[in-house]
Amino acid sequence: MNTISPAQKPSEWRNHHRFSMSRLFHWTIPRRYHQMMAKITQISLIPPFEKSGAKVEKEYGERLEHTSVTTKQLKVLIGALQHTESMPHPIIEIGSFRGITTRGMAGATKREVIAVDPYLGDGGHPKDLAYFETHTAGLSNVRMIRAASDPAFDSWGGAPVSLVFIDAIHEYVHAWYDFIAWGSLVPVGGMVAFHDVDLFPGVNRVCQKILHEHPEWKPWGYAPNIAIFQRI
Ligand SMILES: C[S@@+](CC[C@H](N)C(=O)[O-])C[C@H]1O[C@@H](n2cnc3c(N)ncnc32)[C@H](O)[C@@H]1O
Repeated sequence: MNTISPAQKPSEWRNHHRFSMSRLFHWTIPRRYHQMMAKITQISLIPPFEKSGAKVEKEYGERLEHTSVTTKQLKVLIGALQHTESMPHPIIEIGSFRGITTRGMAGATKREVIAVDPYLGDGGHPKDLAYFETHTAGLSNVRMIRAASDPAFDSWGGAPVSLVFIDAIHEYVHAWYDFIAWGSLVPVGGMVAFHDVDLFPGVNRVCQKILHEHPEWKPWGYAPNIAIFQRI
């Protein structure tokens, strides 16, 4: 059931007619299959992360306003970002919502932080973009690409990036696309971070697939609901 190849872009399938056979067999059915499997096979990432020597935090942290990222998750993410500080390339956030994490990351580095979000109603709305603008006002190293992950990737042009924070659509096929596409731009030493690894089975399944099939990505850090891999 691996008919969703890395080259297949979520937005393109959404443009196919809902009842077309091609969409049904190459997108809808595999997407639902992966979601069902993700629910059945969800695991705690703590044992594999501990086993591979990653830093593992067990505290959840406190809730922050305007985001579901907690203080502890933000701290671990910023730790990863600082660990890549010798790399000159930008940071990418896929799904920036109201800009709280964008602001946290941009305040912790001089590199450019690129926020990718279409604000089209799939979790984020134009009013959230207004919040984003308020929360990131005055940060000259923040740039917004107002587009979904796949068209944004197409327009990006293949330049390397230091760290990708994946926090957009949490279904397996979307998170997998975000990893395969944007992760391909991360050089050795760079990182990919996933939010919602414990609360969303699809993201958990992506992490499991990386653990089993992508030894070039080593677990680097974990805190409840966030997992970070480093390219080695
Ligand atoms: C969970 S929120 C992101 C939270 C944010 N990272 C934070 O730390 O506060 C998910 C965001 O993903 C955006 N989104 C939905 N579809 C997307 C896509 N295809 N590509 C990028 N972002 C998308 C939504 O508009 C929403 O703002």
